[in-house]
Amino acid sequence: MSTIEIKNLGKKFLRSGSSEDTAVTAIESLDLRIQDGEFFTLVGPSGCGKSTLLDILAGLAAPTSGEVLVDGEPVSGPSLERSVVFQQYALFPWLTAVANVEVGLESQARRGRGLDKSGRRIRANEYLRLVGLQGVEDKYPHELSGGMRQRVAIARALAHEPKVLLMDEPFAALDAQTREQLQDLLLDIWNRTRTTIVFITHGIEEAVYLGQRVAVMSSKPGRIKEIINIELDGRHSVDDIRSTPQFSDYRHRIWTLLHESAPSAGNSPVSRKSLVSPGVPA
Ligand SMILES: Nc1ncnc2c1ncn2[C@@H]1O[C@H](COP(=O)(O)OP(=O)(O)OP(=O)(O)O)[C@@H](O)[C@H]1O
Ligand SMILES: [Mg+2]
Repeated sequence: MSTIEIKNLGKKFLRSGSSEDTAVTAIESLDLRIQDGEFFTLVGPSGCGKSTLLDILAGLAAPTSGEVLVDGEPVSGPSLERSVVFQQYALFPWLTAVANVEVGLESQARRGRGLDKSGRRIRANEYLRLVGLQGVEDKYPHELSGGMRQRVAIARALAHEPKVLLMDEPFAALDAQTREQLQDLLLDIWNRTRTTIVFITHGIEEAVYLGQRVAVMSSKPGRIKEIINIELDGRHSVDDIRSTPQFSDYRHRIWTLLHESAPSAGNSPVSRKSLVSPGVPA
């Protein structure tokens, strides 16, 4: 668990061979505080800077201005304390499922903070069980379905028990049923571990279902437009919380916010991808 403070963050990308005048401002003056143990979701139109923000939180990209602090310490590069799960299953094709999960544990061991070989195998198997993958430990990625591969990626991200889990549209490539299963799995894991989670999605419904707070980003430049506290009664005891009026209200509010932030019609229409909200008329 960790607190993330984002202070006056900015990120510009220079067009190659050009001056700063033609730089693309992906993020500007972004301030945000994500609480220890929070499940924080982030939605926004395509190209608004969500992945850029996540990459900066992960330490995979450096900001142009401002800073990110995790538990008061500036982020200056990647760290095993901040695990990332991307949309595409970033598994090593030549390693079995269990070996893929062991990868992160091995690099921890090399730093003298980890488990020995048999400890790593036990831990990797534990996490594969946690994500419902017992029985496929020795299969290679090409032998697994998309949903199974993404479970392996989640097991790998969690196995070294990071303080922060950063997820960039992790379920976007999956079918609806598998996506719902993995949403519930992730909520379950979060309820048990209370790892701080930052979760990017194009699905408004997914953002409301998972997040304690949903941030809506606007684009050009990327900023936080509004943050909505999600308070759903008995969210884990109601079978179909998604069909409650409360849920619909949140969904509609976020859909409206996203719609407002869209460029004017006829000019540069917002892509369908950026406004995915089943059940809400476009
Ligand atoms: N490496 C890069 N070089 C130049 N411009 C970039 C680079 N990465 C991102 N950008 C630009 O920064 C802006 C934000 O991109 P980013 O990928 O963060 O958007 P996003 O919100 O994740 O979009 P999507 O929802 O489509 O994934 C876009 O205008 C994009 O073209
Ligand atoms: Mg992105």
